[in-house]
Amino acid sequence: MTLSVADFVLNDPRVQADPYPFYPLLREEAPVLKSELLGQPCYVLSRRKDIMAVLMDPKTFSSKTAPVASLLFADPPEHGRLRKMVADKFTRLAVAPMADVVGPAAERMFTRCVEAGRFDGIDDFASPLTVYMMGRLLGIPVEQVNNIRGWTHRLAEYAMAIRLGRTPSPQAQQASNDIASFFLGLVETRSYAEDATLAVLAEHFRAGELDANQLVRFATLLFGAGHTTTTNLIGNCLYMLSQRPDDLRRMREEPAFIETFIEEVLRTRPSFHRIMRITTRDVDIGGAQIPQGAIVRLLLASANRDPETYTDGEVFDPDRPARMHAAFGQGIHSCLGSWLARLEGRTALRVVSGMAAEIARVPDTEPTPLTGGTFNEFGFEHLPLQVRALADHGRATS
Ligand code: HEM
Repeated sequence: MTLSVADFVLNDPRVQADPYPFYPLLREEAPVLKSELLGQPCYVLSRRKDIMAVLMDPKTFSSKTAPVASLLFADPPEHGRLRKMVADKFTRLAVAPMADVVGPAAERMFTRCVEAGRFDGIDDFASPLTVYMMGRLLGIPVEQVNNIRGWTHRLAEYAMAIRLGRTPSPQAQQASNDIASFFLGLVETRSYAEDATLAVLAEHFRAGELDANQLVRFATLLFGAGHTTTTNLIGNCLYMLSQRPDDLRRMREEPAFIETFIEEVLRTRPSFHRIMRITTRDVDIGGAQIPQGAIVRLLLASANRDPETYTDGEVFDPDRPARMHAAFGQGIHSCLGSWLARLEGRTALRVVSGMAAEIARVPDTEPTPLTGGTFNEFGFEHLPLQVRALADHGRATS
């Protein structure tokens, strides 16, 4: 079947599951595509240079795409004020000690997978690991972390409805109310670890620098942004390892290879395929006229394969010379948790490569791609895998 840009429907689950055939087409034929998502008109940008220019110009391209009091939807100066409150917690240096938390948890979880010989890369490893990490980062009592996990999908639906100016479904509204009571309850009763991020937010709340709504939005953003995205990163890494059997050995022999492997997964299969902005004035992008107040959707995943920057960009090559990718965004809103995500990914892969001789797809089963939610996420809902233990890891090979 010949594809056309008209088939690039933003909420089509088939497009979400495999948008890659469209990106070269969009970059070539319609780099500024007039489109819509669930009735909301928008312009879709696919070329790297256009996307980077938008991200570096927050004055013209505002993040206020939804009436939500959150860092993600704030413009300067409010954005800087909010980001400064927690920025210290997310530097490369500040997150480094988290390796001592994620390592043992990953070992515990992956040992069970290896002993079973089969596992779901998402349900049995990536998702519980990143939920656990987010719980530790925020300082939420371990036994309560899974409460939030159950709400995250509904919260993505809630966020989507608010962004589109629609009334959220009763279930999505309920999830939003539940998470608000949950975080406010923890803050009121001081039920969090004193050195954790929730403690920092609670301090700003008590000082009157965050209201209750902002506090809840902040905590929810951190949990949501940190959980689903990193789950997708680890899931996408496991998927690539199932296609590239030799890479596990390379990870054991050259630990630095783990880092380049992760960067290449982030480039070729980023967890988040697109982000959005709204124009504050009429603007010209690559010859296309975009009016004030227009929604602009930026295809980060297309930017990451643009041939103007990446030779053979479609090819997964962990040995390619380092080039900045856009998986974590760019500019003032660039991902706050990028060092933490990398650390979680690195530690998870160190554990996996230290215990597994081989990871392979389970015959006659297909992974289930992620669909729905905000339609921006890219990864798997289920990823059935089989694992053969390393003989010298002291376990029977299966
Ligand atoms: C592989 C994992 C991750 C990916 C691919 C990712 C991707 C992104 C992207 C693309 C943005 C920019 C959004 C925009 O400009 O509109 C962003 C922002 C953000 N990310 Fe991540 N993220 C990841 C992990 C994390 C983690 C672990 C956390 C921490 C808990 C986190 C927290 C945030 C926050 C708070 C923002 C908003 C920053 C701001 O508005 O200033 N992310 N992320």
